[in-house]
Amino acid sequence: MNKVETKKVVREGYAKVAAQKSSCCNAANSCCGSTDSAQDISKKIGYTDEELNAAPKGANLGLGCGNPTALASLKKGETVLDLGSGPGLDCFLAADKVGRDGKVIGIDMTPEMIEKARANAVNGNYSNVEFRLGEIENLPVADNSVDVVISNCVINLSPDKESVFKETFRVLKRGGRIMVSDIVLSRELPDFIKDSVDAYVSCFSGAIQKGKYLKTVADAGFKDVSIVGETSVPVDEWINDPIAEGVINTLKISSDQAKEVMGSIISVKVKGVK
Ligand SMILES: C[S@@+](CC[C@H](N)C(=O)[O-])C[C@H]1O[C@@H](n2cnc3c(N)ncnc32)[C@H](O)[C@@H]1O
Repeated sequence: MNKVETKKVVREGYAKVAAQKSSCCNAANSCCGSTDSAQDISKKIGYTDEELNAAPKGANLGLGCGNPTALASLKKGETVLDLGSGPGLDCFLAADKVGRDGKVIGIDMTPEMIEKARANAVNGNYSNVEFRLGEIENLPVADNSVDVVISNCVINLSPDKESVFKETFRVLKRGGRIMVSDIVLSRELPDFIKDSVDAYVSCFSGAIQKGKYLKTVADAGFKDVSIVGETSVPVDEWINDPIAEGVINTLKISSDQAKEVMGSIISVKVKGVK
C-alpha cells in the first residue's frame, strides 16, 4: 500500500468503528488489546473510574493504549492539541484540567469520528473543546500556538511519522511538550503480518521499532526525549485468552505466529520538550 491507500484503509476502518459497525474490542486489535468492554479496557490502561464517569457518554470507545492526560501535568489556561482524537475522551479529560481559560483542539481525519466527538462536546456542555477535521501529517493549527500535544494510539497508524513529529514541533510554543501513548515494536514484524490490512488498522503493522520511534521524535527537534512508561504483552497469559483466538482467526495465522507477533508489541508513553 502507498501512503494514500494506507490512509484510506485507516479512515474506512475507523469510520466503521465510529458507527459502531466494528468494535475495537473484537479480533486482533492492539489499539485496545482485550475482549473486555471499553470501560474495562480503559481501566486496564490507566484511566480511573472517576475520569471515565466524568467524560460524556460515547466519548470512550476503548481505542487508546494509555492515558496521556494523566502524565501531561496539564495546568489551568493551557492550550492542548490531541492528535487523532477519535470520539474525544482525552480531549474532554484535558478540558477539565485546563479549565475555562484553557482550550483543547482535537484533530482527526475520519469525518465520522469528528461528527461523533462534536456531538459528545455538545452533550457534555464543553465550550473549551474544538474538533477539527484534518491529518496529523499536515496539522490545521497555527505555528507556536500550543502548550501541550497529546496523542493516544494514533501515530503508529501514520505512514509518515517524520511529518507528524515535525508538524507537532511546528505548532508547539517554545518550551511546549509532548506526552504520547503509542505502540512500538521490540523487533521487526514477520513478513506475513506486514502486508495485512487488518493488522495495520489494528495498530500492529504500522508500528516501528522503539529506537527508530525515539530517533524520529528527536530528529524533529525535540529535547529530553524519553520513555516514561512501557508495557509488553504477556504472551504466555495472552495466548490462553479468547482474544488470541480472535487474532488467529482474523489474521489467519497459527498460534505460534500469533505469539511471535504479540511478543514484538510494546505500549509506550513518550515525552519530549520543544
Ligand atoms: C486507535 S484510534 C484512537 C482514538 C483516540 N485517540 C482514543 O484514544 O480514543 C485512532 C484514531 O486516529 C485517527 N487517525 C489515524 N490516522 C490519522 C491521521 N493520519 N491523521 C488524523 N487522524 C488519524 C483515526 O481516524 C482514529 O479516530
